[in-house]
Amino acid sequence: MSRIAYVNGQYVPHRNAAVHVEDRGYQFADGVYEVFAVMGGKLIGEQGHFERLTHSLSELRIEWPLSRAAMLVAVKEIVRRNYVQDGLVYLQVTRGVSPRDHPFPEHSESALVITARKSGPLDKDALRNGVDVITIPDIRWQRCDIKSVALLPNVLGKQMARDANAFEAWQVDDEGYVTEGTSTNAWIVTANGDLVTRNASTSILNGVTRLAVLEAAAEAGIDITERPFTPKEALAAREAFITSSTSHVKAVTRINGQSIGNGHVGGLTNRVLDAYVEYLETHGGPRTTDTWN
Ligand code: PDD
Repeated sequence: MSRIAYVNGQYVPHRNAAVHVEDRGYQFADGVYEVFAVMGGKLIGEQGHFERLTHSLSELRIEWPLSRAAMLVAVKEIVRRNYVQDGLVYLQVTRGVSPRDHPFPEHSESALVITARKSGPLDKDALRNGVDVITIPDIRWQRCDIKSVALLPNVLGKQMARDANAFEAWQVDDEGYVTEGTSTNAWIVTANGDLVTRNASTSILNGVTRLAVLEAAAEAGIDITERPFTPKEALAAREAFITSSTSHVKAVTRINGQSIGNGHVGGLTNRVLDAYVEYLETHGGPRTTDTWN
């Protein structure tokens, strides 16, 4: 069965899906994206992803290629045409095609690409198998709240993690605080038992999963502190985990080669994962959608 992609108004075989060489996304990384999880055939955090897309597009003054309603129809159609029960949807909007020149073109139509990919259903046991994280300097720009396709620092960071046999790299800002992973948000349970994740600001991408976990944990009676933390505090933590639309709530059991807590997934991480899954089953994603920077 062949995969189908949406490219600028058309559903085309994935192997033939292409954009123009003068697409500004290709030449300048002048574009934004969203990654949605699909679980049981349903889009997760649909509203949150569209609200964040609205924020990213408006901060970069990129026009919507379609109305939000029409885009949602295309996203659902791509899920349907690719028979995705569990997996993800990738959506990218760029400023479109124009002769290469740095300023915004006077006339260009935003380009829209949507693809989908199958994966297995959320597997709690696999998520509880802790992964390794390393820490690296955060060399990104100062608008990490915008979900820009300019991901070169993230790509380099993730490769540093792979080269160190780790799953993720936590980026550390000039003040010595962890911002986030290269494609995930970072969480710890401190030595005192406080669940901590960095507050939303222009220094991080406010994850739709992060927001859902904040709400799910609050509903489950778990207190959370939103503040920056240092790698030193993370190394002394009892537990750690990462969140994203692709990693859900994934335990971290080693940082820079050192075991966190007893080296196994922690009790609070387990509770958060359970609360998150239950929350998605009830609400389908976060209900707060107005906190993008
Ligand atoms: N990444 N931080 C960064 C830098 C990210 O790229 C992502 C998502 C997140 C988590 O956001 P969310 O919970 O909305 O997925 C945090 C996606 C999955 C990606 O680039 O593939």
